[in-house]
Amino acid sequence: MKIVFASGNEGKVKEVQAMLVGTGIEMVSLKSYSGVPEIVEDGTSFLANALKKARIIAEFTGETVLADDSGLLVNILNGEPGIYSSRYAGLGATDEENNAKLLTKLKNIPAEKRVASFQCVLVFYRKDGTFESFEGNWQGQIIDERRGDNGFGYDPIFWIPELKMTAAELPADIKNKVSHRGQAVAKFKSSLLMKR
Ligand code: IMP
Repeated sequence: MKIVFASGNEGKVKEVQAMLVGTGIEMVSLKSYSGVPEIVEDGTSFLANALKKARIIAEFTGETVLADDSGLLVNILNGEPGIYSSRYAGLGATDEENNAKLLTKLKNIPAEKRVASFQCVLVFYRKDGTFESFEGNWQGQIIDERRGDNGFGYDPIFWIPELKMTAAELPADIKNKVSHRGQAVAKFKSSLLMKR
């Protein structure tokens, strides 16, 4: 089965591609298309944004699509940056600028109050316009020090207490098993298997 992954985020593309190895799914990146329409993520939830990306890319490519909308929610900041995770420090902000903004907001907040979670909503959008969604949630806490070179986004400051590592210190195959995106993709894969 051919599926177009509706994201230009290379970090996500790499992860999802690795997660789908061995499933028989041929995952096509948006990079192989030119003239991809600009998508304004103006939804008020991860689901609304994932669905919007999926629908626009399905109409553009005429293919079955998988879209992911995800982000970091920090409890003491009432869920910030949430749906604004990729542009927390402004449109076009780098991962480091977003991390720096978050750490400034958390200045003087003690470790035990820096509880956070990554959330992911994955939408599987068929050519006939029907769709299904799958969710994943990964708990951790935000630390001041950047640790590790793997992953992307907020990974270097996302500490997983049980593993005593940040998400950026985890080898890619382990992150892909336990992460919010890993959980959502695992649910998607089981749903496909049940229908085969
Ligand atoms: P989206 O492309 O609008 O879904 O934005 C997702 C943003 O959330 C990314 O740009 C990152 O800032 C953050 N994010 C989502 N998943 C992860 C992850 O696995 N690690 C680190 N940051 C993530």
